[in-house]
Amino acid sequence: MYNKKTIEDIGVAGKRVLTRCDFNVPVVNGAITDDKRIKEALPTINYLSSHGARVILCSHFGRPKGEFNPAFSLAPVAKRLGELLGRDVIFASDVIGDDARAKATALNDGDIMLIENVRFHKEEEKNDPAFAAALASLGEIYVNDAFGTSHRAHASTAGVADYLPAVCGYLIQKEISIMGGALTDPKRPFVAILGGVKVSDKIGVIMNLLTKVDTLIIGGAMAYTFFKAEGFTIGDSLCEDDKVELARSLKAEAVAAGVRFLLPIDNRTGDRYSPDCNYYLVDSDNIPDGYMGLDIGPRSEALFASAIKGAGTVVWNGPMGVSEWEKFASGTRAVARAVADSGAVSIIGGGDSAAAVEQLGFADRMTHISTGGGASLEFLEGLVLPGIACLDDKDDK
Ligand code: 3PG
Repeated sequence: MYNKKTIEDIGVAGKRVLTRCDFNVPVVNGAITDDKRIKEALPTINYLSSHGARVILCSHFGRPKGEFNPAFSLAPVAKRLGELLGRDVIFASDVIGDDARAKATALNDGDIMLIENVRFHKEEEKNDPAFAAALASLGEIYVNDAFGTSHRAHASTAGVADYLPAVCGYLIQKEISIMGGALTDPKRPFVAILGGVKVSDKIGVIMNLLTKVDTLIIGGAMAYTFFKAEGFTIGDSLCEDDKVELARSLKAEAVAAGVRFLLPIDNRTGDRYSPDCNYYLVDSDNIPDGYMGLDIGPRSEALFASAIKGAGTVVWNGPMGVSEWEKFASGTRAVARAVADSGAVSIIGGGDSAAAVEQLGFADRMTHISTGGGASLEFLEGLVLPGIACLDDKDDK
């Protein structure tokens, strides 16, 4: 586990503090549709500013492929951040250019500025040392609070730490203490619920959790690869044929380790991949040709809910079906309700699962919804996150 210095372990007053956030928020027609990641950055920003730091925020936004592109400007984020903070946020129209340098130099204690999208430079994703040094030279201290990007070894998430004292912010601290706590010392019974489309995306998580959980629940489209491994007919359901053997051995390993391993026993299927498709409820061992599984069925909902009831810790990553379509949201809703009612420490991986829990109205009843999609998966896989590993350890001088 990480034991990293935090913003409270370093004097920030009067210092220019380069602070990496993950402001990669969903935007539709220029409007931010979910500002959770911005809100989650506020405790760190407020701490720094109120302790007299000159705060220089940076982030990526989207994948602009290393070139300036106004569609990927962070200007709307600066505006939203200013509204949330109730004060001015200075915005620099470049990253390491004249505007960023002049504005960083002119900051007063407590001021907050945001520089443009670091991915406007191709050197960012290459973790180019010269670019990292130029970025680092804007500040005197580096704070990483971008949990959602901490699985990337990029210049702004890892490279800059070679040039500055480097500590973590409150969001990274919160994410690793809650998720790390669940992995190392879970309140039992410990139930993991994994869904989503692909087994291949979740192999690492399944393998890491196999030795830790009491119950493993599999739903979502990845269940059909497990059905095929059982010898069931799966109709037109999604299946990763090259992962069928692996699915078989993962289940065998879980059972051998004494883990209760649950697959859906019935399914809501459709005659095509469309919210308006004809709908058909079938048992798991016999999905007919012409139909594809799009959600778990009501008997599976009851089975999963009873396994979740009484849990001490629940980790959930991946929806149970196509939860953005009302007809196939029932399974995800039932699981969300069961998790909320269980009273367990409930941890929701970011990305699709976080979006589903928000959309279905259960967000307030979960202990923790991670701001990281890929990052939370890699954390749950037990992988080292370069954006955290690069920070100074508590016992460093
Ligand atoms: C995310 O949204 O998962 C993070 O911001 C990382 O973005 P990326 O996958 O483009 O690196």
